[in-house]
Amino acid sequence: MAKRKIVTGNDPVLRKVCRPVDKITPRIRQLLADMLDTMRDADGVGLAGPQVGVLRRVIVVETEPGQTYMLINPEITESSGEQVGDEGCLSLPGESGCVRRPMKVKVRALDTDGKEVEIEGEGLLARAFCHEIDHLDGILYPDRAEYMNEKA
Ligand code: NI
Repeated sequence: MAKRKIVTGNDPVLRKVCRPVDKITPRIRQLLADMLDTMRDADGVGLAGPQVGVLRRVIVVETEPGQTYMLINPEITESSGEQVGDEGCLSLPGESGCVRRPMKVKVRALDTDGKEVEIEGEGLLARAFCHEIDHLDGILYPDRAEYMNEKA
């Protein structure tokens, strides 16, 4: 288990557009494995490269135990419906806000073996994919929030 430090607050790294991964090296695989450990340790359901200070297009998502995605160069190819609900982010601890997202999305990406995969996500999984892919373009959920909740 190798945990990395989660970037928080106003760090400019969270606002950069990430570069695609052109070659899946052992280093990229290690990055994804570390991101999964880091996310689980922090009780999150998703984490993106910039949140551990790496400006590459990689995300991990795990909204249910055993349903784990480690994705490289993910893109949303289809979306439908909508859902409105609370969202938070490991990089913005103690905050939450109400965000409108698609109810269903299709995501195309490479897995850690470099194989192209297409995943359909609904509900929380769709929300997590949208949130994490936004991170790769320097977008944080408060940018999209209809309102922020009062801090607990
Ligand atoms: Ni986040």
